[in-house]
Amino acid sequence: MRLFTGLAAGVLLMGFGAALAQPAVPGAELLPQGAGRDTTLRVCTGCHAPDVIVGRVQKSAPWPDVVQAMVDKGAEATPEEVALIAAYLKKALPETPA
Ligand code: HEC
Repeated sequence: MRLFTGLAAGVLLMGFGAALAQPAVPGAELLPQGAGRDTTLRVCTGCHAPDVIVGRVQKSAPWPDVVQAMVDKGAEATPEEVALIAAYLKKALPETPA
């Protein structure tokens, strides 16, 4: 019985943790407001923080290529979300000419 209570409490805590962690992606404030921002945060911060996106090293690659490269690595997004994210990033973080 005790084990069961402990398990239930653990599951509950994990649920709370996930709910709390959701809105507060560390570094989320680096991404400017705009259509597609929420999707970008959801899809693109699973493997690395937003500062990796904002401070990317290789600036010459167009955003759609970058997003596609991340999908190839395992980012999970529908084709619509990929297009939305690419459009958002293009506007929010313009590519600097090499
Ligand atoms: C499955 C894991 C994963 C997801 C999800 C992911 N990335 Fe990445 N990302 C990586 C890895 C690994 C690197 C570092 C290695 C590299 O640059 O190839 C990286 C690096 C980057 C960089 C830095 C490249 C540079 O030139 O400095 C940018 C920009 C980036 N990701 C953007 C995104 C965007 C935008 C999304 C959402 C569409 C995203 N990432 C989602 C794994 C991921």
